[in-house]
Amino acid sequence: MPPATDSPAAAIRGFAAAVIDWHKSNGRHDLPWQQHPSPYRVWVSEIMLQQTRVTTVIPYFLRFMERFPDVATLAAADIDQVLHLWTGLGYYARARNLHKAAQCIVEHHQGRIPDNLEALQQLSGIGRSTAGAILALAHGRPAAILDGNVKRVLARCFAIAGFPGHGKTAAALWAKAESLVPRREVAAYTQGMMDLGATVCTRKPPACGQCPLSPRCLARKQGQVERYPGRKPGRALPVRRVVMHILQDESGRVLLEKRPPTGVWGSLYSLPEALPEFCTAIEAPGKLPPIRHSFTHFHLDISLLRYGVRRGHDAVADSGRWLWYSIAAPAEVGLAAPVSKLLASLAKPGNQERS
Ligand code: ADE
Repeated sequence: MPPATDSPAAAIRGFAAAVIDWHKSNGRHDLPWQQHPSPYRVWVSEIMLQQTRVTTVIPYFLRFMERFPDVATLAAADIDQVLHLWTGLGYYARARNLHKAAQCIVEHHQGRIPDNLEALQQLSGIGRSTAGAILALAHGRPAAILDGNVKRVLARCFAIAGFPGHGKTAAALWAKAESLVPRREVAAYTQGMMDLGATVCTRKPPACGQCPLSPRCLARKQGQVERYPGRKPGRALPVRRVVMHILQDESGRVLLEKRPPTGVWGSLYSLPEALPEFCTAIEAPGKLPPIRHSFTHFHLDISLLRYGVRRGHDAVADSGRWLWYSIAAPAEVGLAAPVSKLLASLAKPGNQERS
């Protein structure tokens, strides 16, 4: 348990120490790319692992290394040979980028894989996280990574809400990732974060009982581990359309109808409405701009037709279903939200005239 009095620097050291300790006894140490982790081996493995699980990657990685043991061999190979060894791994742009980057390294970097973030990220297929992984795992240099697994660990531990694909959330995760990288044992820390995300802090259900970070995990304290990281916002909501009728009498009152007790706006007063397909025979009513009202599950697009009536019949109000609603002296009834807004806008000076 981190002491409550930890300074921020001590808390950061404590975080890294917990991950490194855990990795020593529980992390993965025998993956092929962890043996002789040269920049080339780390790079190829990271690219293969981007969209593919470890068990699938292992035989591909071994065959690839046998056939293309270094950058120069890969750069000199025909792209068809490279694609041949990639067959079955999928996402073939990865192989094309790898081959292209190898040629660039031979041509522009004297055959040596760059050892700084900027130059690495100039190469085809190498993003910020892959560049960080090459520096951390192959050189032991303090560089941050942020692959899908690490995003999950950080989003949960620090309760960073929001979809990581969104710029602001990504920036918050990167800032956190950068701030946590230790000065020493960077490779163990980096591999530990990847392994934690892959084997303990899994999407569903996470094994919090085995997690070295659980005493400091904010999502766990909130009892909301599975809420993080935030999901991609859903697809566009369906749109329903309705026509609402504004019947306004000479004194400015508007006819409202009480809605049934169940369903949206249950028992609230709203404008009389009809489906658009039943609204063809209306005689030249005034037309107001449409309104969109959004519910959690759909948008309601409301077209408005406005009529003047010479005299509102109070008799219709007796049933309790109908109400001549005075905007100036409103009855104390519940109103559907967009109707309330609309009535307020009708009350504004300049909006009084009827068609
Ligand atoms: N996923 C991405 N990089 C990895 C690595 N070095 N080991 C295991 N899984 C990974």
